Amino acid sequence: NPLIMIETSAIRIEKTTQSRINELDENNIPFGRLYSDHMFLADYKDGQWQDLRIVPYQNISLSPANSALHYGITIFEGLKAYRNKDGEVVVFRPEANAKRLNISAERMCIPAVPEGLFMEALNELLKIDASWVPSAPGTALYVRPFVFGMDEYIGIRPSENFRFMIITGPVGSYYTKPVRVKIETKFSRAFEGGTGFAKAGGNYAASLYPARLAQKMGFDQLIWTDGKTHQYIEESGTMNVMFMIDDVLITAPTSGTILKGITRDSVLTIAREWGVKVEERPVAVAEVVAAAKEGRLKEAFGVGTAATIAPIATIGYEDEVYDLPAADDSFFSRKILKQLSGIRSGEIADKHGWIYKI
Ligand code: COI
Repeated sequence: NPLIMIETSAIRIEKTTQSRINELDENNIPFGRLYSDHMFLADYKDGQWQDLRIVPYQNISLSPANSALHYGITIFEGLKAYRNKDGEVVVFRPEANAKRLNISAERMCIPAVPEGLFMEALNELLKIDASWVPSAPGTALYVRPFVFGMDEYIGIRPSENFRFMIITGPVGSYYTKPVRVKIETKFSRAFEGGTGFAKAGGNYAASLYPARLAQKMGFDQLIWTDGKTHQYIEESGTMNVMFMIDDVLITAPTSGTILKGITRDSVLTIAREWGVKVEERPVAVAEVVAAAKEGRLKEAFGVGTAATIAPIATIGYEDEVYDLPAADDSFFSRKILKQLSGIRSGEIADKHGWIYKI
């Protein structure tokens, strides 16, 4: 692959001369299949991050004894860049992702990625691949930072060497239609003292088998319950979940077992400003099921970076299936999606300082 060498700040840049941008069809973008022209890498060696570089997107080489491959020493983040109404590239709350990455890092004995390094890497990468940020409604450039162990050692111990990378790719909707979820009461995603709050690869790997069983039953995803009693709602494997029971917006508090979603926080912040009654408290499965039976469960939806605001069509619990009303413009989930889209496009003022311009 022919390269153009450019030097900027601390990051060495090798730019491709063979862009694959013509593979991007803005009106037909699947989730997580197409990657932009470049990627960022840094290596942690001898106690510091070094060799910061942006190179053409390509395969990487790993030792067969790599510590991440064997023991799952790997964490990630997910954020999105958008094109605003003036054609500029903006990122939604990237500092929050930088902070959360380091919360995950600590739990997995991974060294912190300085926020300045995270932001500079993001900024430089998005400048170079700006043409990959789509503008069609519902699309974005998904940004995936991740850090993993790089020791060539199969003994069990924290790694000493790591790699921090960022890849990006244009995406459309993660869920293309309202989701069918099953409340899981046998398997557990997380438990007190575990890694549920961390965006660690293993959390997602462990969720696949129970999710596959649910998919065989016709569901798209699980809603996890607490690992001890299975009586309280936690999160869905790809998003936090919220319920509108009567006119109260209810969601589980983030604790050691639930990922502290940035979309979750944004939705709760706006809901409170709108005067919506919000309750962050343990949500009993029995309460949701009773509300669904009595017609008081007005809305249920997932909130996440990839999922955005994903209306829930059906909730399965034990042998029962509860269908929820289809969302229309009067629904909170519709209004909040419109508000967030407006803030990202610049049509609605960004009064919280959530928008970071590239
Ligand atoms: C995200 O929403 O960005 C995530 O990382 C969730 C993942 C399951 C796609």
